[in-house]
Amino acid sequence: MRHVDLAAEAEKIVILDFGAQYSQLIARRVRAARVYCEILPHATPAPQVAARGPKGIILTGGPASVYEEDSPVCDRAIFDLGVPILGICYGMQLMAYLLGGDVRRAEKAEYGKTNLYIDGESGLFRGVNNPTVCWMSHGDYIKEPPPGFSVLAHTGNTPVASMGNQERKFYGVQFHPEVTHTPEGEKILRNFLYEICSCSGTWTMSSFIQESVEAVRRRVGNGQVICGLSGGVDSAVAAALVHRAVGPNLTSVFIDHGLLRKGEAESVVRTFRQGQGMNLVYVDARERFLNRLAGVEDPERKRKIIGEEFIRVFEEEARKIGDIEFLVQGTVYPDVIESGTKTASLIKSHHNVGGLPEDLRFQLIEPLRDLFKDEVRKVGEELGLPEEIIWRQPFPGPGLAIRIIGAVTQEKLDILREADAIVVEEIKKAGLYRELWQSFAVLTSVKSVGVMGDERTYGYTVGLRAVTSTDGMTADWARLPYEVLERIASRVVNEVPMVNRMVYDITSKPPGTIEWE
Ligand code: XMP
Repeated sequence: MRHVDLAAEAEKIVILDFGAQYSQLIARRVRAARVYCEILPHATPAPQVAARGPKGIILTGGPASVYEEDSPVCDRAIFDLGVPILGICYGMQLMAYLLGGDVRRAEKAEYGKTNLYIDGESGLFRGVNNPTVCWMSHGDYIKEPPPGFSVLAHTGNTPVASMGNQERKFYGVQFHPEVTHTPEGEKILRNFLYEICSCSGTWTMSSFIQESVEAVRRRVGNGQVICGLSGGVDSAVAAALVHRAVGPNLTSVFIDHGLLRKGEAESVVRTFRQGQGMNLVYVDARERFLNRLAGVEDPERKRKIIGEEFIRVFEEEARKIGDIEFLVQGTVYPDVIESGTKTASLIKSHHNVGGLPEDLRFQLIEPLRDLFKDEVRKVGEELGLPEEIIWRQPFPGPGLAIRIIGAVTQEKLDILREADAIVVEEIKKAGLYRELWQSFAVLTSVKSVGVMGDERTYGYTVGLRAVTSTDGMTADWARLPYEVLERIASRVVNEVPMVNRMVYDITSKPPGTIEWE
């Protein structure tokens, strides 16, 4: 799988990853400061790091202690590259340990906000208040910095909260500048990038668009390109970007499997045909999917059927177009990082359902594989995609089929679509849509008794699911205001035929999952 390395020549920071959760946040902060960065595994050999031509290196935090057996280390030779290095938390302890400082286990771990007192002058703390607040979370501490280093800051409990060797441009901070609980953390990171690494801040979304349009153009030449649109933000932005590069040589295929939300198919067709002026093939496969799903109750079988059928339909359409060399995919940077680590867990494997098989004979174009989600959205905005697509909450490939408990029927799809549309409308009206990772309706298989007017009813129970999350791997149920819950329930029960009860799902993940199937 080849991809164009768009940022090969851009000024860049290399982040050595000692704990993925910290690394991604640091990377996003660096990019927000307009400096491109890449996350590499912590043990990447120094020559490979040097080959990226970094202007600086950041060693991230991580859960380990430098004294544990098998604790992760970087190649010592990175300290001989003549490149500025910033160690954060574990990254600083490791730097101290490898360069001859004294790292100790603290009797009491330090956790939370604390005052940071800055000692002396350094580029790292230029313009930062003294004292300033920082966020600490560590069990080990540095008793004595390595030779050549001086103490740049301390806290009540931590004698070396920051250290630096200004000549070699090696710096360390015990606290976490990447989290919002360190109010001046952004300034400290910017100081490292601009004052110490002499970055100039060239990374912007418009420069990204310009460079990737040229790169795609060079690669594709006169070839034919195909893209599967799902209605989600990643495939939409990838398609719009490639369209800007190759125009009519791109054909996008949108398969309507009949399991989409209300108005979604129309919105995709309108956006891409009229808004973007793209070649868009709309495939009405609704009946075909419904027939294949008839009577199927098991969630995993539903997924498998939908996944297989999806590929079959896509292949048929590709064959009709003929002579295609390239396939666009909306892979984003977190997918790339995750597939490079052991923690790409099984729970997530089902996410490829609704995706395309690897063995299609096309060459892949993945124009977003260097971008974080917030960057993808910015690119989408610059390419003129509408807000409803750019800010759409994630939606599973198998769509409403896994939000209907038990067998999928046309009638149940219609009920769920209406209920879900009310949920989305009310959540948007309350200004909560962007804050929530997902908010949607589920059609349970429970029927219960109710009363409407003078009449007894016997109808379906609809579930409401609303969660906050940063990546879908863990999630918390959203504390929606009672008034919003009330409005949703009252509208769903009154406006959607055959529904007479609504319940709110207050399970977090784990142990629950976000979807009900
Ligand atoms: P769960 O239900 O596993 O969902 O907590 C986590 C995230 O993944 C989405 N999801 C899927 N996405 N195909 C997809 O493309 C699937 O089969 C699938 N199942 C769950 C879910 O919407 C949530 O964002």
